Amino acid sequence: MSEGTIRFGVWAPVHGPRAALGDPREPFDASWDHNLAVVLEAEELGFDSTLIAQHTVNPHLPENDQLEAWTAAAALAALTSRIEIIAAIKPYILHPVFLAKMALQIENVSRGRFGLNFVNAWNKTEFERAGIPFGEHDERYAYGAEWISIVSRLIAGEEVTHQGRHFSIDGYRLTPKSLYRRRPSIYIGGESEPARDLVARQGDTWFINGQPLDAVAGLVEDLRGRSRSGAALRYGLAAFVIARDTEAEAQEEYDRLLALAGANGDVHALQSRKADPGAVMFRTIAKTASLGTNGGTAAGLVGSYDQVAERILAFHDAGIELFMLQFQPLRSEMKRFAEHVVSRVRSSRVNRADTLERPTRQQAAT
Ligand SMILES: Cc1cc2nc3c(=O)[nH]c(=O)nc-3n(C[C@H](O)[C@H](O)[C@H](O)COP(=O)(O)O)c2cc1C
Repeated sequence: MSEGTIRFGVWAPVHGPRAALGDPREPFDASWDHNLAVVLEAEELGFDSTLIAQHTVNPHLPENDQLEAWTAAAALAALTSRIEIIAAIKPYILHPVFLAKMALQIENVSRGRFGLNFVNAWNKTEFERAGIPFGEHDERYAYGAEWISIVSRLIAGEEVTHQGRHFSIDGYRLTPKSLYRRRPSIYIGGESEPARDLVARQGDTWFINGQPLDAVAGLVEDLRGRSRSGAALRYGLAAFVIARDTEAEAQEEYDRLLALAGANGDVHALQSRKADPGAVMFRTIAKTASLGTNGGTAAGLVGSYDQVAERILAFHDAGIELFMLQFQPLRSEMKRFAEHVVSRVRSSRVNRADTLERPTRQQAAT
């Protein structure tokens, strides 16, 4: 599915459905078997990547199941052969040396297909109930910046000596390092000012919450304007897709999910109750009514197959390389997307090859 620089990914169903609970077409299932089946099917359909969100307790309803991200990522690494596997991590839950060791192991099990997604956490109750201090928003980012600077060097096989506010490390080197490339990829999800600063300095790819095209273009411009060393930053977008033959049919399905969300629990409303009020993500999400998590349908990928393909191309023109997508019901909609939308994106790209093969401004500059 990798056509030039457009890549498509799918969020693994680590905590069940993404838009609404109680959907007769998508019974709740966060099991390992279901996650494995989804990721194997995504790989078969040609998806390039999967994102395994990290939560210890189900962030919607704590009594519901939650898949463990890192053990699942290791198992998926062994059972897949082509798809990129990205596992999220919150810096507070594991010391950077041990997390880096795990990342390198999964990198080598997957033969160079592993990425970690640094997320700075918003679910206060998850931490507080475990007795882990949940500092103030920017203070957590200061901790996270020190944490990822250590992880980043260790996963590149460097010997690390570090004396900082939070960590003291003396001549540590992890071996084997990646047997396939310099190091696993570093994604960062977060939108606040300290998140952006961290992305510019230490990220390979910035994951942006789903939101309208002009907002996304503005965020990309902001990051392109920041100083950075090394390779050009890449951009990923979270989005919930509803694509049908006609716009009216897509709207009908949107209304069906919206009604279910209203009746049975809208997952982002359930999340918001536990959220750190400092988390910018929830302010972004609150600006636009949407289905799905992390912005979901606010990215506007709801419409006819042609409309959705055109909007993907427009986001790509604005700088998005990786589309990390949510669907409900997941398996049938993922298949539909692969059959109807990817083919349209691909054929439009052939027609527009001159514009789409052009490197982004930042890529050209470095
Ligand atoms: C693509 C993406 C994936 C995310 N995955 C997770 C996750 O797995 N676990 C989690 O607790 N938060 C996740 N987050 C939320 C981040 O933790 C959240 O953006 C952050 O805590 C709030 O930071 P901000 O104030 O900088 O936006 C994700 C965010 C994005 C954009």
